[in-house]
Amino acid sequence: MGLCRQLVRQKLYFLLAGLVFLYIVYRSFPCDSGPSLVMVPKEQTKFMYDDRHRAIPYGDDMPIIFVGGMPRSGTTLMRAMLDAHPEIRCGEETRVIPRILGMRTQWERSALEKKRLTEAGVTGEVMDSAVRAFILEIIAKHGPAAPHLCNKDPFTLKSTVYLNKQFPNSKFILMIRDGRAVVHSIITRKVTISGFDLNSYRKCLSKWNSALETMYSQCLHVGQGKCMPVYYEQLALHPKEWMARILRFLDIPWNESVLHHEEFIGKPGGIALSKTEKSTDQVIKPVNVDALSKWVGSIPDDVVRDMESIAPMLRTLGYDPKANPPNYGKPDPEVADNTIHIKKNADFWQRREVDVRQNGADDTLPQQQQPQQQPQQPQQLQQQQGIVLQQQPPNGVLSQDQGYVGRVERMAVNEQRGKGR
Ligand SMILES: *[C@@H]1O[C@H](CO)[C@@H](O)[C@H](O)[C@H]1NC(C)=O
Repeated sequence: MGLCRQLVRQKLYFLLAGLVFLYIVYRSFPCDSGPSLVMVPKEQTKFMYDDRHRAIPYGDDMPIIFVGGMPRSGTTLMRAMLDAHPEIRCGEETRVIPRILGMRTQWERSALEKKRLTEAGVTGEVMDSAVRAFILEIIAKHGPAAPHLCNKDPFTLKSTVYLNKQFPNSKFILMIRDGRAVVHSIITRKVTISGFDLNSYRKCLSKWNSALETMYSQCLHVGQGKCMPVYYEQLALHPKEWMARILRFLDIPWNESVLHHEEFIGKPGGIALSKTEKSTDQVIKPVNVDALSKWVGSIPDDVVRDMESIAPMLRTLGYDPKANPPNYGKPDPEVADNTIHIKKNADFWQRREVDVRQNGADDTLPQQQQPQQQPQQPQQLQQQQGIVLQQQPPNGVLSQDQGYVGRVERMAVNEQRGKGR
Protein backbone atom coordinates (compact mmCIF):
# COMPACT_ATOMS: atom_id res chain seq x y z
CA MET A 1 0.00 0.00 0.00
CA GLY A 2 2.84 2.32 1.06
CA LEU A 3 4.66 1.51 -2.17
CA CYS A 4 1.62 2.52 -4.23
CA ARG A 5 1.30 5.82 -2.38
CA GLN A 6 5.01 6.49 -2.97
CA LEU A 7 4.56 5.82 -6.69
CA VAL A 8 1.66 8.25 -6.95
CA ARG A 9 3.66 10.91 -5.11
CA GLN A 10 6.59 10.30 -7.46
CA LYS A 11 4.30 10.73 -10.47
CA LEU A 12 2.94 13.94 -9.04
CA TYR A 13 6.48 15.25 -8.62
CA PHE A 14 7.25 14.39 -12.22
CA LEU A 15 4.08 16.07 -13.39
CA LEU A 16 4.86 19.17 -11.37
CA ALA A 17 8.44 19.28 -12.66
CA GLY A 18 7.12 18.86 -16.22
CA LEU A 19 4.68 21.72 -15.80
CA VAL A 20 7.36 23.99 -14.36
CA PHE A 21 9.63 23.11 -17.27
CA LEU A 22 6.90 23.83 -19.82
CA TYR A 23 6.14 27.13 -18.12
CA ILE A 24 9.80 28.17 -18.25
CA VAL A 25 10.01 27.20 -21.92
CA TYR A 26 6.80 29.10 -22.63
CA ARG A 27 8.09 32.25 -20.94
CA SER A 28 11.48 32.22 -22.58
CA PHE A 29 10.17 31.59 -26.14
CA PRO A 30 6.97 33.59 -26.40
CA CYS A 31 5.22 32.59 -29.57
CA ASP A 32 5.13 35.65 -31.80
CA SER A 33 2.14 35.61 -34.09
CA GLY A 34 2.66 39.23 -35.17
CA PRO A 35 0.58 42.20 -34.17
CA SER A 36 -2.92 41.24 -33.27
CA LEU A 37 -4.38 44.37 -34.94
CA VAL A 38 -4.08 45.39 -38.58
CA MET A 39 -5.38 48.56 -40.17
CA VAL A 40 -8.22 47.90 -42.59
CA PRO A 41 -9.82 50.71 -44.60
CA LYS A 42 -13.32 51.46 -43.41
CA GLU A 43 -14.89 51.34 -46.86
CA GLN A 44 -13.36 48.54 -48.81
CA THR A 45 -14.92 49.39 -52.15
CA LYS A 46 -14.95 52.96 -53.37
CA PHE A 47 -17.45 54.35 -55.83
CA MET A 48 -17.70 57.23 -58.24
CA TYR A 49 -21.07 58.31 -59.62
CA ASP A 50 -21.46 59.17 -63.27
CA ASP A 51 -23.95 61.50 -64.96
CA ARG A 52 -26.56 58.76 -65.12
CA HIS A 53 -26.33 58.05 -61.39
CA ARG A 54 -24.55 54.81 -62.03
CA ALA A 55 -22.15 53.85 -59.29
CA ILE A 56 -18.78 52.98 -60.77
CA PRO A 57 -16.40 51.23 -58.40
CA TYR A 58 -12.79 52.29 -58.56
CA GLY A 59 -9.67 50.70 -57.20
CA ASP A 60 -6.06 49.71 -57.75
CA ASP A 61 -7.08 46.93 -60.08
CA MET A 62 -8.80 49.28 -62.52
CA PRO A 63 -7.43 49.44 -66.04
CA ILE A 64 -6.17 53.01 -65.69
CA ILE A 65 -4.74 54.61 -68.84
CA PHE A 66 -1.56 56.62 -68.37
CA VAL A 67 -0.70 59.03 -71.20
CA GLY A 68 2.74 60.62 -71.15
CA GLY A 69 5.89 61.54 -72.98
CA MET A 70 7.94 64.70 -73.28
CA PRO A 71 5.87 67.88 -73.01
CA ARG A 72 5.06 69.28 -76.49
CA SER A 73 4.80 65.82 -77.99
CA GLY A 74 1.06 65.62 -78.53
CA THR A 75 0.19 64.37 -75.05
CA THR A 76 -2.63 66.91 -74.79
CA LEU A 77 -3.99 66.02 -78.22
CA MET A 78 -3.90 62.36 -77.29
CA ARG A 79 -5.80 62.85 -74.07
CA ALA A 80 -8.30 65.22 -75.73
CA MET A 81 -9.05 62.60 -78.37
CA LEU A 82 -9.53 59.98 -75.65
CA ASP A 83 -11.62 62.42 -73.59
CA ALA A 84 -13.97 62.79 -76.56
CA HIS A 85 -14.86 59.11 -76.15
CA PRO A 86 -18.00 58.86 -74.02
CA GLU A 87 -16.53 56.15 -71.79
CA ILE A 88 -13.14 57.70 -71.14
CA ARG A 89 -12.17 60.57 -68.88
CA CYS A 90 -8.61 61.88 -68.71
CA GLY A 91 -8.92 65.52 -67.71
CA GLU A 92 -6.34 68.17 -67.10
CA GLU A 93 -2.79 67.57 -65.92
CA THR A 94 -2.91 66.85 -62.21
CA ARG A 95 0.69 68.09 -61.67
CA VAL A 96 0.93 66.35 -58.29
CA ILE A 97 1.11 62.79 -59.58
CA PRO A 98 4.54 63.14 -61.24
CA ARG A 99 5.70 65.00 -58.14
CA ILE A 100 4.70 62.30 -55.67
CA LEU A 101 6.38 59.77 -57.97
CA GLY A 102 9.52 61.90 -58.02
CA MET A 103 9.54 62.25 -54.25
CA ARG A 104 9.16 58.54 -53.73
CA THR A 105 12.06 57.91 -56.11
CA GLN A 106 14.21 60.34 -54.11
CA TRP A 107 13.37 58.69 -50.79
CA GLU A 108 14.09 55.32 -52.33
CA ARG A 109 17.42 56.37 -53.83
CA SER A 110 18.90 57.97 -50.72
CA ALA A 111 20.35 55.11 -48.67
CA LEU A 112 20.32 57.19 -45.50
CA GLU A 113 16.72 58.29 -45.91
CA LYS A 114 15.65 54.77 -46.74
CA LYS A 115 17.27 53.47 -43.56
CA ARG A 116 15.56 56.14 -41.48
CA LEU A 117 12.22 55.38 -43.03
CA THR A 118 12.58 51.66 -42.47
CA GLU A 119 13.55 52.31 -38.84
CA ALA A 120 10.38 54.32 -38.52
CA GLY A 121 8.25 51.54 -39.91
CA VAL A 122 7.70 53.30 -43.22
CA THR A 123 8.67 50.27 -45.24
CA GLY A 124 8.54 50.05 -49.01
CA GLU A 125 5.21 48.30 -48.70
CA VAL A 126 3.67 51.04 -46.54
CA MET A 127 5.00 53.70 -48.89
CA ASP A 128 3.68 51.97 -51.99
CA SER A 129 0.24 51.57 -50.54
CA ALA A 130 0.16 55.27 -49.60
CA VAL A 131 1.44 56.43 -52.99
CA ARG A 132 -1.04 54.15 -54.73
CA ALA A 133 -3.93 55.55 -52.73
CA PHE A 134 -2.80 59.12 -53.39
CA ILE A 135 -2.55 58.61 -57.14
CA LEU A 136 -5.82 56.74 -57.34
CA GLU A 137 -7.76 59.38 -55.39
CA ILE A 138 -6.38 62.20 -57.51
CA ILE A 139 -7.18 60.42 -60.75
CA ALA A 140 -10.65 59.36 -59.67
CA LYS A 141 -11.73 62.63 -58.07
CA HIS A 142 -10.23 65.44 -60.14
CA GLY A 143 -12.87 65.08 -62.84
CA PRO A 144 -16.24 63.50 -63.57
CA ALA A 145 -16.70 59.77 -63.14
CA ALA A 146 -16.29 57.51 -66.16
CA PRO A 147 -16.02 53.79 -66.79
CA HIS A 148 -12.45 54.25 -68.04
CA LEU A 149 -10.16 56.59 -66.16
CA CYS A 150 -7.08 58.04 -67.73
CA ASN A 151 -4.30 60.30 -66.52
CA LYS A 152 -2.10 62.61 -68.51
CA ASP A 153 0.90 64.13 -66.78
CA PRO A 154 3.73 63.97 -69.30
CA PHE A 155 6.49 62.86 -66.95
CA THR A 156 4.59 60.02 -65.24
CA LEU A 157 5.83 57.78 -68.05
CA LYS A 158 9.27 58.04 -66.45
CA SER A 159 7.79 55.76 -63.78
CA THR A 160 6.11 53.27 -66.09
CA VAL A 161 7.67 50.23 -64.45
CA TYR A 162 6.71 51.39 -60.95
CA LEU A 163 3.17 52.39 -61.96
CA ASN A 164 2.71 49.08 -63.74
CA LYS A 165 3.57 47.31 -60.48
CA GLN A 166 1.17 49.46 -58.44
CA PHE A 167 -1.70 49.31 -60.93
CA PRO A 168 -1.34 45.88 -62.49
CA ASN A 169 -4.14 46.35 -65.03
CA SER A 170 -3.08 49.77 -66.23
CA LYS A 171 -1.99 50.61 -69.77
CA PHE A 172 0.45 53.20 -71.00
CA ILE A 173 0.54 55.41 -74.07
CA LEU A 174 3.94 56.94 -74.72
CA MET A 175 3.78 59.91 -77.07
CA ILE A 176 6.85 60.24 -79.26
CA ARG A 177 7.66 63.19 -81.47
CA ASP A 178 10.71 64.34 -83.42
CA GLY A 179 12.96 65.82 -80.72
CA ARG A 180 13.86 68.77 -82.93
CA ALA A 181 10.21 69.77 -83.15
CA VAL A 182 9.75 69.19 -79.40
CA VAL A 183 12.70 71.38 -78.48
CA HIS A 184 11.75 74.08 -80.98
CA SER A 185 8.29 74.19 -79.46
CA ILE A 186 9.62 74.26 -75.88
CA ILE A 187 11.97 77.12 -76.73
CA THR A 188 9.65 79.25 -78.85
CA ARG A 189 6.71 78.80 -76.50
CA LYS A 190 8.90 79.29 -73.43
CA VAL A 191 7.72 76.13 -71.74
CA THR A 192 9.56 76.01 -68.44
CA ILE A 193 10.68 72.51 -67.56
CA SER A 194 13.10 72.01 -64.70
CA GLY A 195 16.54 71.15 -66.01
CA PHE A 196 15.89 72.64 -69.46
CA ASP A 197 17.96 75.66 -70.47
CA LEU A 198 15.67 77.51 -72.86
CA ASN A 199 18.60 79.42 -74.35
CA SER A 200 20.30 76.37 -75.80
CA TYR A 201 19.02 74.05 -78.50
CA ARG A 202 21.99 71.79 -77.86
CA LYS A 203 21.31 71.36 -74.14
CA CYS A 204 17.57 70.98 -74.65
CA LEU A 205 18.03 68.32 -77.31
CA SER A 206 20.37 66.44 -75.05
CA LYS A 207 17.79 66.61 -72.23
CA TRP A 208 15.08 65.45 -74.61
CA ASN A 209 17.33 62.54 -75.51
CA SER A 210 17.83 61.36 -71.95
CA ALA A 211 14.17 61.78 -70.98
CA LEU A 212 13.07 59.81 -74.03
CA GLU A 213 15.67 57.15 -73.33
CA THR A 214 14.22 56.61 -69.85
CA MET A 215 10.63 56.58 -70.99
CA TYR A 216 11.17 54.46 -74.08
CA SER A 217 13.21 51.81 -72.29
CA GLN A 218 10.59 51.51 -69.55
CA CYS A 219 7.90 51.24 -72.19
CA LEU A 220 9.77 48.37 -73.83
CA HIS A 221 10.42 46.83 -70.43
CA VAL A 222 6.74 46.47 -69.47
CA GLY A 223 6.04 45.09 -72.92
CA GLN A 224 3.85 45.52 -75.96
CA GLY A 225 0.63 44.51 -74.29
CA LYS A 226 1.07 47.17 -71.61
CA CYS A 227 2.73 50.15 -73.24
CA MET A 228 2.11 51.49 -76.73
CA PRO A 229 4.46 54.05 -78.28
CA VAL A 230 2.46 56.48 -80.44
CA TYR A 231 4.19 58.79 -82.87
CA TYR A 232 2.62 62.23 -82.77
CA GLU A 233 3.33 62.78 -86.45
CA GLN A 234 1.52 59.58 -87.41
CA LEU A 235 -1.41 60.33 -85.12
CA ALA A 236 -1.77 63.78 -86.71
CA LEU A 237 -1.37 62.49 -90.28
CA HIS A 238 -3.60 59.43 -89.92
CA PRO A 239 -5.86 59.95 -86.91
CA LYS A 240 -8.44 57.35 -87.87
CA GLU A 241 -6.00 54.52 -88.31
CA TRP A 242 -4.13 55.36 -85.13
CA MET A 243 -7.12 55.94 -82.90
CA ALA A 244 -8.50 52.59 -84.05
CA ARG A 245 -5.24 50.92 -83.06
CA ILE A 246 -5.11 52.76 -79.75
CA LEU A 247 -8.66 51.85 -78.76
CA ARG A 248 -7.99 48.24 -79.72
CA PHE A 249 -4.90 48.31 -77.53
CA LEU A 250 -6.97 49.73 -74.68
CA ASP A 251 -9.77 47.21 -75.22
CA ILE A 252 -12.35 49.96 -75.54
CA PRO A 253 -15.01 49.93 -78.29
CA TRP A 254 -14.58 52.29 -81.20
CA ASN A 255 -16.48 55.57 -81.20
CA GLU A 256 -16.33 58.13 -83.99
CA SER A 257 -16.25 60.94 -81.41
CA VAL A 258 -12.53 60.48 -80.93
CA LEU A 259 -11.97 61.90 -84.42
CA HIS A 260 -13.87 65.13 -83.65
CA HIS A 261 -12.47 66.07 -80.27
CA GLU A 262 -12.78 69.80 -81.04
CA GLU A 263 -16.57 69.47 -80.82
CA PHE A 264 -16.53 68.25 -77.24
CA ILE A 265 -14.44 70.95 -75.66
CA GLY A 266 -15.90 72.45 -72.52
CA LYS A 267 -19.01 70.28 -72.67
CA PRO A 268 -20.39 68.04 -69.96
CA GLY A 269 -19.00 64.57 -70.49
CA GLY A 270 -16.62 66.05 -73.05
CA ILE A 271 -13.21 67.64 -72.68
CA ALA A 272 -12.27 69.88 -69.78
CA LEU A 273 -9.34 72.14 -70.62
CA SER A 274 -7.13 74.07 -68.25
CA LYS A 275 -6.65 77.78 -68.93
CA THR A 276 -3.11 77.49 -67.65
CA GLU A 277 -1.87 74.56 -69.72
CA LYS A 278 0.30 75.57 -72.64
CA SER A 279 -1.30 73.23 -75.15
CA THR A 280 -4.87 74.36 -74.57
CA ASP A 281 -4.88 76.81 -77.47
CA GLN A 282 -3.83 74.08 -79.87
CA VAL A 283 -6.18 71.27 -78.97
CA ILE A 284 -9.21 73.49 -79.53
CA LYS A 285 -8.48 72.97 -83.23
CA PRO A 286 -9.31 69.84 -85.19
CA VAL A 287 -6.42 67.50 -85.93
CA ASN A 288 -4.07 69.21 -88.37
CA VAL A 289 -0.45 69.12 -89.44
CA ASP A 290 0.28 72.83 -89.26
CA ALA A 291 3.13 72.36 -86.78
CA LEU A 292 5.00 69.26 -87.93
CA SER A 293 7.95 70.92 -89.67
CA LYS A 294 7.92 74.39 -88.12
CA TRP A 295 11.29 73.74 -86.53
CA VAL A 296 13.15 73.61 -89.84
CA GLY A 297 15.50 76.58 -90.12
CA SER A 298 15.40 77.56 -86.44
CA ILE A 299 18.09 75.29 -85.08
CA PRO A 300 21.67 76.66 -85.08
CA ASP A 301 23.92 75.18 -87.80
CA ASP A 302 26.43 73.61 -85.42
CA VAL A 303 23.62 71.83 -83.58
CA VAL A 304 22.13 70.60 -86.87
CA ARG A 305 25.58 69.31 -87.83
CA ASP A 306 26.05 67.40 -84.55
CA MET A 307 22.44 66.23 -84.33
CA GLU A 308 23.25 62.55 -84.53
CA SER A 309 25.59 62.64 -81.54
CA ILE A 310 23.54 65.11 -79.46
CA ALA A 311 20.34 63.13 -79.79
CA PRO A 312 20.99 59.51 -80.76
CA MET A 313 17.45 58.65 -79.74
CA LEU A 314 16.29 60.34 -82.95
CA ARG A 315 17.68 57.49 -84.98
CA THR A 316 16.66 54.85 -82.43
CA LEU A 317 13.09 56.04 -82.78
CA GLY A 318 13.29 56.08 -86.57
CA TYR A 319 13.79 59.80 -87.29
CA ASP A 320 16.55 60.63 -89.76
CA PRO A 321 18.83 63.04 -87.84
CA LYS A 322 20.32 64.26 -91.12
CA ALA A 323 17.07 65.11 -92.85
CA ASN A 324 15.79 68.65 -92.33
CA PRO A 325 12.94 67.90 -92.26
CA PRO A 326 12.47 64.18 -92.62
CA ASN A 327 9.53 63.02 -94.66
CA TYR A 328 6.88 62.39 -92.03
CA GLY A 329 4.35 61.21 -94.59
CA LYS A 330 1.26 62.38 -96.40
CA PRO A 331 -1.79 63.40 -94.36
CA ASP A 332 -5.22 61.82 -94.74
CA PRO A 333 -7.50 64.03 -96.86
CA GLU A 334 -9.53 65.13 -93.80
CA VAL A 335 -6.39 66.25 -92.03
CA ALA A 336 -5.14 68.09 -95.09
CA ASP A 337 -8.50 69.88 -95.31
CA ASN A 338 -8.40 70.83 -91.65
CA THR A 339 -4.94 72.24 -92.07
CA ILE A 340 -5.93 74.36 -95.06
CA HIS A 341 -9.04 75.65 -93.35
CA ILE A 342 -7.23 76.49 -90.15
CA LYS A 343 -4.82 78.56 -92.19
CA LYS A 344 -7.67 80.18 -94.12
CA ASN A 345 -9.58 81.04 -90.94
CA ALA A 346 -6.53 82.13 -88.97
CA ASP A 347 -8.42 85.09 -87.45
CA PHE A 348 -11.17 82.89 -86.11
CA TRP A 349 -8.73 80.52 -84.47
CA GLN A 350 -6.74 83.34 -82.98
CA ARG A 351 -9.86 84.81 -81.40
CA ARG A 352 -10.88 81.43 -80.11
CA GLU A 353 -7.46 80.96 -78.59
CA VAL A 354 -7.74 84.25 -76.75
CA ASP A 355 -11.26 83.37 -75.62
CA VAL A 356 -10.23 80.02 -74.27
CA ARG A 357 -7.34 81.58 -72.38
CA GLN A 358 -9.50 84.28 -70.86
CA ASN A 359 -12.88 82.68 -70.35
CA GLY A 360 -12.38 78.95 -70.63
CA ALA A 361 -13.61 77.01 -73.61
CA ASP A 362 -17.34 77.22 -72.90
CA ASP A 363 -17.97 80.73 -74.16
CA THR A 364 -17.59 79.99 -77.84
CA LEU A 365 -19.16 76.60 -78.13
CA PRO A 366 -18.93 75.61 -81.76
CA GLN A 367 -22.56 74.54 -81.96
CA GLN A 368 -25.96 75.90 -82.79
CA GLN A 369 -27.77 75.98 -79.48
CA GLN A 370 -25.72 77.13 -76.59
CA PRO A 371 -26.87 75.86 -73.23
CA GLN A 372 -28.91 78.51 -71.41
CA GLN A 373 -26.79 78.48 -68.36
CA GLN A 374 -23.40 77.25 -67.52
CA PRO A 375 -23.78 73.81 -65.98
CA GLN A 376 -21.83 73.62 -62.77
CA GLN A 377 -19.00 71.16 -62.72
CA PRO A 378 -20.62 67.91 -61.64
CA GLN A 379 -17.84 66.96 -59.27
CA GLN A 380 -18.18 70.26 -57.44
CA LEU A 381 -21.87 69.70 -56.90
CA GLN A 382 -21.22 66.18 -55.86
CA GLN A 383 -18.85 67.40 -53.22
CA GLN A 384 -21.06 70.22 -52.07
CA GLN A 385 -24.31 68.34 -51.84
CA GLY A 386 -23.40 64.72 -52.01
CA ILE A 387 -25.68 64.32 -55.02
CA VAL A 388 -25.21 63.82 -58.70
CA LEU A 389 -26.83 66.08 -61.24
CA GLN A 390 -28.61 64.83 -64.28
CA GLN A 391 -26.37 66.14 -67.00
CA GLN A 392 -27.19 67.07 -70.54
CA PRO A 393 -25.56 64.88 -73.13
CA PRO A 394 -23.02 66.63 -75.33
CA ASN A 395 -25.47 68.40 -77.59
CA GLY A 396 -23.19 69.87 -80.19
CA VAL A 397 -22.54 66.64 -82.02
CA LEU A 398 -22.95 67.27 -85.70
CA SER A 399 -24.39 64.49 -87.77
CA GLN A 400 -21.76 62.16 -89.02
CA ASP A 401 -22.42 62.58 -92.71
CA GLN A 402 -21.03 66.11 -92.71
CA GLY A 403 -17.39 66.14 -93.63
CA TYR A 404 -14.57 67.70 -91.71
CA VAL A 405 -14.49 70.73 -93.96
CA GLY A 406 -18.13 71.33 -93.18
CA ARG A 407 -17.43 71.15 -89.49
CA VAL A 408 -14.60 73.60 -89.45
CA GLU A 409 -16.45 76.07 -91.64
CA ARG A 410 -19.51 75.79 -89.48
CA MET A 411 -17.44 76.65 -86.45
CA ALA A 412 -16.25 79.80 -88.18
CA VAL A 413 -19.80 80.69 -89.26
CA ASN A 414 -21.17 80.20 -85.76
CA GLU A 415 -18.49 82.46 -84.46
CA GLN A 416 -19.59 85.15 -86.92
CA ARG A 417 -23.22 84.73 -85.87
CA GLY A 418 -22.28 84.85 -82.22
CA LYS A 419 -20.65 88.19 -82.77
CA GLY A 420 -23.68 89.53 -84.66
CA ARG A 421 -26.02 88.77 -81.76
C1 LIG B 1 -20.43 57.43 -79.49
O1 LIG B 1 -20.49 58.47 -78.55
C2 LIG B 1 -21.64 59.26 -78.59
C3 LIG B 1 -21.48 60.34 -77.55
O2 LIG B 1 -20.26 60.96 -77.62
C4 LIG B 1 -22.88 58.43 -78.37
O3 LIG B 1 -24.02 59.25 -78.48
C5 LIG B 1 -22.91 57.31 -79.38
O4 LIG B 1 -24.00 56.48 -79.10
C6 LIG B 1 -21.63 56.51 -79.34
N1 LIG B 1 -21.63 55.55 -80.41
C7 LIG B 1 -21.35 54.28 -80.23
C8 LIG B 1 -21.34 53.44 -81.45
O5 LIG B 1 -21.13 53.83 -79.13
